[in-house]
Amino acid sequence: MTLAEKNILLGVTGGIAAYKAPILVRHLRNEGANVQVVFSRSAHAFVAPVTMQALSGRSVRDDLWDREAEAAMGHIELARWADLVLAAPATAHFMACLAQGLAPDLLTTLCLATNAPILLAPAMNQAMWRNPATRRNAAILAEDERRIIGPEVGDQACGDTGPGRMAEPEALLLAVQQTLAAPCLKGRKVLVTAGPTQEALDPVRYLSNQSSGKQGYAIAQAAAAAGAQTILVSGPSNLPAPANVERIEVVSAQDMHDAVLARAAEQALVVGVAAVADYRPSVQNQQKLKKRNGAPLKLSLVENPDIIAAVAALPQAPVVVGFAAETENALEHARSKRRHKNLDAIVVNDVSNKEIGFNSDHNAATLIWADGEAELPYQSKEALAAALVQRLAELFFPESPH
Ligand code: C5P
Repeated sequence: MTLAEKNILLGVTGGIAAYKAPILVRHLRNEGANVQVVFSRSAHAFVAPVTMQALSGRSVRDDLWDREAEAAMGHIELARWADLVLAAPATAHFMACLAQGLAPDLLTTLCLATNAPILLAPAMNQAMWRNPATRRNAAILAEDERRIIGPEVGDQACGDTGPGRMAEPEALLLAVQQTLAAPCLKGRKVLVTAGPTQEALDPVRYLSNQSSGKQGYAIAQAAAAAGAQTILVSGPSNLPAPANVERIEVVSAQDMHDAVLARAAEQALVVGVAAVADYRPSVQNQQKLKKRNGAPLKLSLVENPDIIAAVAALPQAPVVVGFAAETENALEHARSKRRHKNLDAIVVNDVSNKEIGFNSDHNAATLIWADGEAELPYQSKEALAAALVQRLAELFFPESPH
């Protein structure tokens, strides 16, 4: 989504992740946004105002008492000018001020005075992020409907490893776009399946697959961001549940089938992203299987129910969208799979390409529906999810705001 004519107030506070803020300004400007950068006092220690001025085309504001800047555009005017406020990085101290409604400087005052949505990209040492005071402040901010993006887990500038890395500029751009986009699924009910399923052989062993759940979780997140009341039926996955999404955790294909079918009729849209095991062991041994002294062990498997085909066969079926992971003749196989399962649309990706698909953070796909096809080019799974949700809304809910 373009950000043309959108006014973004980018707050930069004093953390090492401020080195990524200039890239963020570039991304926002490339999408057509007007960007006004506001520094906290300590932001100056990490990035130069002249860098931000060159990239944004506007002088950096940093002082509530700057008479010249206030005369040109007073802080209340600036707070009204903003369509969105993004604080990136947001330090623990800044979050604490915001949670308590304190306004010791220009940026915190603007946050109090604006009616625009406020997004925060926390960045701090992992112990500071885990500190109970920060946890409390994050909970208050979430309750106040401030959208918190990240932080990510990984290596930190201070040498620690853990949660506290600022979300990447690309992810922040997407969050800005999603926040400002028309809520194209507002009031709709959407159910997404995601992750692998596990088919028990005995109490400790199972058959499963490589699915990480990333693409399905991103689609649930994008549907919720587009205003949908979203349910995520997920097989075993380490991913956290996206904000504003009701997650139902299941293990086997049969569990997933039952959880989906119990809710399918009331949905407007069902998106099947899960890598459902096609077969399960015909016998689930109650005791752990023993070695057989060299004799072969034969497994007998029975087919699992096809979940999305069952949803599509309901008398008042919702719009049903499937995924097809193919390794050869991808488009041809997907077209016939869509017809065969009676799906409204199918998203196909070529999983023989190691750059995309299962455990990767990126994906590229083609959306196929009854009378058209559209490329979803190589991008992050989050960006692909946002583009897919937008496209599905245009195709199947044309009366919604786009
Ligand atoms: O037939 P195939 O497994 O390739 O189809 C993939 C699509 O069907 C995905 O959308 C997947 O979530 C869905 N599916 C399902 N139930 C199954 C098998 C696949 O819903 N038992």
